[in-house]
Amino acid sequence: MAAEILAGWEMVATESNQRWNPDEYDRTARFVSDLGADALALLDPSPGERILDLGCGDGVLTERIIRVGARVVALDSSAEQVTAARGRGVDARVGDAASLEFQNEFDAVFSNAVLHWIRDVDAVLAGVHRTLRSGGRFVAEFGGAGNIETVRLALVAALNRRGFDGQALDPWYFPGAAEYSDRLEAHGFVVESAELFDRPTRLTGDMLDWLALFGQRFFAALNEGDRPTAVAEVCDAVRAGLQRADGTWMVDYVRLRVKALKADDGAIATKHHA
Ligand code: BEZ
Repeated sequence: MAAEILAGWEMVATESNQRWNPDEYDRTARFVSDLGADALALLDPSPGERILDLGCGDGVLTERIIRVGARVVALDSSAEQVTAARGRGVDARVGDAASLEFQNEFDAVFSNAVLHWIRDVDAVLAGVHRTLRSGGRFVAEFGGAGNIETVRLALVAALNRRGFDGQALDPWYFPGAAEYSDRLEAHGFVVESAELFDRPTRLTGDMLDWLALFGQRFFAALNEGDRPTAVAEVCDAVRAGLQRADGTWMVDYVRLRVKALKADDGAIATKHHA
């Protein structure tokens, strides 16, 4: 499977060369939406509310918000994922979380397992703030400081060994609770909670497939013929730390889960940093 995923990549790494194929995503990463239940509970959607789902993927989690009776608009940067989400009846649109054009029109913005892919954090937070009505809430969960550290270090090292700057190819932003809270406040949010916690995550498939799906930005820098060896090398490098005796992979995921409000005049900030 990893070989199939690798075969479709472009030769030159660009900021946007992470591709999402709904079938591969379903096979390799279904746990992402399955594990979104707690973030959804924090969102606590109500019937009739207008909610923006930022980075809806194939819309599995979005459907759960719709089922409550909320009116949901869902955005994703991947046209393939948007098509999959529309197939589930979701009002999904192709869009960039860093250039939102909504104005004071949503009761809540929700995002699960997406924001670590976007380096322009200030553009995202400015857009989310504009999007919300006064007093509206922003609930997000994504990779936090230390997330997938074992894999990340192995990826960077593999690229460095091949003469690239592995760090420069790293597409991810994994902030701590205090750092992200400061950024939220700088954009006019009142932070209700910001919790950083370990969530070791068992892969449903093989590490090779996970690397091929999520590590595209690193491997796309290599010639096509060099990619399978590099993916296998990273897999071997993380084996001792992440593979269990029964052969399953347990990846060192760390989550940052936040809830913040678009401040009303006179709102009082209360902050809990984990
Ligand atoms: C995450 O959900 O934390 C994640 C998944 C793949 C790559 C990077 C982060």
